Amino acid sequence: MCGDVLLYVAQTRPLIDAVRAKKDRFRMETNYFADLRDGVTGKRHIMYQQDIKNEIRDLLKKRNAVLLAHNYMRDEVQEIADITGDSLALSIEAAKTKADVIVFCGVHFMAESASILSPDKTVLLPRLDAGCPMADMVTAEGLLEMKARFPGVPVVTYVNSTAAVKALSDICCTSANAGRVVESLPEKEILFVPDRNLGRFIAKTSSKTFHYWDGFCPTHERLRPEEVIRLKEEYPDALFICHPECNPAISALADHACSTSGMYDYCRTSPAKRFIIGTEAGILYRLKKENPDKEFILASPALICPNMKLISLEDILASLQTMTPEVRVVEDIRIPAKHALDRMLAVPRD
Ligand code: 13P
Ligand code: SF4
Repeated sequence: MCGDVLLYVAQTRPLIDAVRAKKDRFRMETNYFADLRDGVTGKRHIMYQQDIKNEIRDLLKKRNAVLLAHNYMRDEVQEIADITGDSLALSIEAAKTKADVIVFCGVHFMAESASILSPDKTVLLPRLDAGCPMADMVTAEGLLEMKARFPGVPVVTYVNSTAAVKALSDICCTSANAGRVVESLPEKEILFVPDRNLGRFIAKTSSKTFHYWDGFCPTHERLRPEEVIRLKEEYPDALFICHPECNPAISALADHACSTSGMYDYCRTSPAKRFIIGTEAGILYRLKKENPDKEFILASPALICPNMKLISLEDILASLQTMTPEVRVVEDIRIPAKHALDRMLAVPRD
């Protein structure tokens, strides 16, 4: 009897393995989602990723909504977005879209900027807890103190900041236009807030005197020069490109430093075949897709921003079903913050 069972198991094993392998392949190909909570009823049910995507697209149409996603978002979120881009491209899009609703897949300050620029629209941020630690490093009170120490010196504020901080600023900038924004000002001295690394990077090619806020991006700050040096030795033919949010010791090693969208242009037009990438891992999705003949190596496994990875397809679906969480900026902050953003938008990209 025992022998028969063993024989049976031996005969059916390959069949079971084949079915399992097929199932696994199916799960991988369809990105099977096991557990989904309905945004309205709260009931849990199983849905395939493709079905979630279809439902999101249907709801976007029904709500006359546009889905904007930052270049650091999860691959599957970038895949279904109407527009993917860097902070500057997304601000421009938020300011000109004809949609009634903006579903912002990014972090809180980006959704705030969208609301500042388009107050008549509903701006949804599918995860309200998707914040930016750098933006939280400067408060309105702190900036007021700094301004008091440097009376009359204009404040250039990186968009990675709260609406309240923007409201106290003369002009905003992103990593794609910071150099031009600084040069557009007639003053010879500026206060640069909150990213000390972007500020120092811009100051290298500017004749102006900079006073920096001591903020930084914890994700980019994690990249260590030893990691880059080791990869450059291992791949001597590769170009190293990084985001200016990286530490100056990292930028000094770079063949090119620019915003995330700048990286797409650079890698597409460069004759090089291999690139070491010094920015958040989400950028790899489009880089690989747009350049199938080129190789992209993430400079460190630590280059993952936990905040940028929070929003899932399930969150987007729930957000569109419930039309929450909404981000809206109160008028007395929105108006001066909009002035700083509008001044920035009038300056061309670097
Ligand atoms: P950008 O290239 O969009 O400026 O990205 C930097 C960033 O960290 C956004 O949070
Ligand atoms: Fe903020 Fe850095 Fe994350 Fe961008 S990557 S959202 S700057 S913590």
